[in-house]
Amino acid sequence: MSEPILEIRDLRKSFDALKATDGVSLDLRPGQIHALIGPNGAGKSTLIHQIAGTLKADSGAIRFLGQDIGGLDTAARARLGLARSFQISSLAQEFSALRNVMLAVQAKAGNSFRFFRQVTSDKSLTEPAMAMLERVGLAGRAHVPAAELSHGERRQLEIAIALALSPKAFLFDEPMAGMGPESSKKLTTFLDGLRHEAPMLLVEHDMDAVFALADRISVLVYGRIIASGTVDEIRSDSEVRRAYLGEAA
Ligand SMILES: Nc1ncnc2c1ncn2[C@@H]1O[C@H](COP(=O)(O)OP(=O)(O)OP(=O)(O)O)[C@@H](O)[C@H]1O
Ligand SMILES: [Mg+2]
Repeated sequence: MSEPILEIRDLRKSFDALKATDGVSLDLRPGQIHALIGPNGAGKSTLIHQIAGTLKADSGAIRFLGQDIGGLDTAARARLGLARSFQISSLAQEFSALRNVMLAVQAKAGNSFRFFRQVTSDKSLTEPAMAMLERVGLAGRAHVPAAELSHGERRQLEIAIALALSPKAFLFDEPMAGMGPESSKKLTTFLDGLRHEAPMLLVEHDMDAVFALADRISVLVYGRIIASGTVDEIRSDSEVRRAYLGEAA
């Protein structure tokens, strides 16, 4: 089996007496969509925050592309190619969708922000930015300010921004949340294609999406992974059904 892109080992994080992450280990391998499911409050977002660097783990290891990244800040992890999407606050609300992606293209190229005003028509920025918007199906909304985009369109824009950074792995925390069935279906198809670009750790409550996409599913309950396996293995695991899927096992 190929080497993992992301390796989590015995990660622990407590909030006072609450063990939100209680000895979590998992691997994300090339080409893989690894879904992380579990009930509300299980610690899924807390885990994503520790991987992205917005929360510091109490102990344990996070290795990305073979490097221990536990001591790096969020920006340094992003520069290594760890893309976290669906941070609404990361969008510049007053800027158009296109400008938002151009900022990411420019950041990737390492240019200074100061010169942004002069380069809004620079083809080396507009062309790749427009290509990203086309990929996510948002080209027709390129000139609309981020603040005026619908919920689903913002998520598409955030993916375009993540793509502009040429990520080596994606961390997605509930990308389908708040979407209607049509948009969810479209996003599912899109994420399916994205796995060949970079593997993803996908936190999602939409089980149709999880079962359609996941190569591997890990089930988190009270900060611990109680089961990890293929879709079929997880669907037929009686403990998982009792703990999470809400079926009489
Ligand atoms: N900053 C914090 N301070 C104190 N407790 C926290 C903090 N962040 C999360 N928690 C607690 O840690 C536990 C795990 O929360 P987390 O948000 O990671 O769950 P989740 O699995 O993402 O849930 P959901 O499915 O509802 O998004 C919860 O009991 C939550 O209340
Ligand atoms: Mg959460």
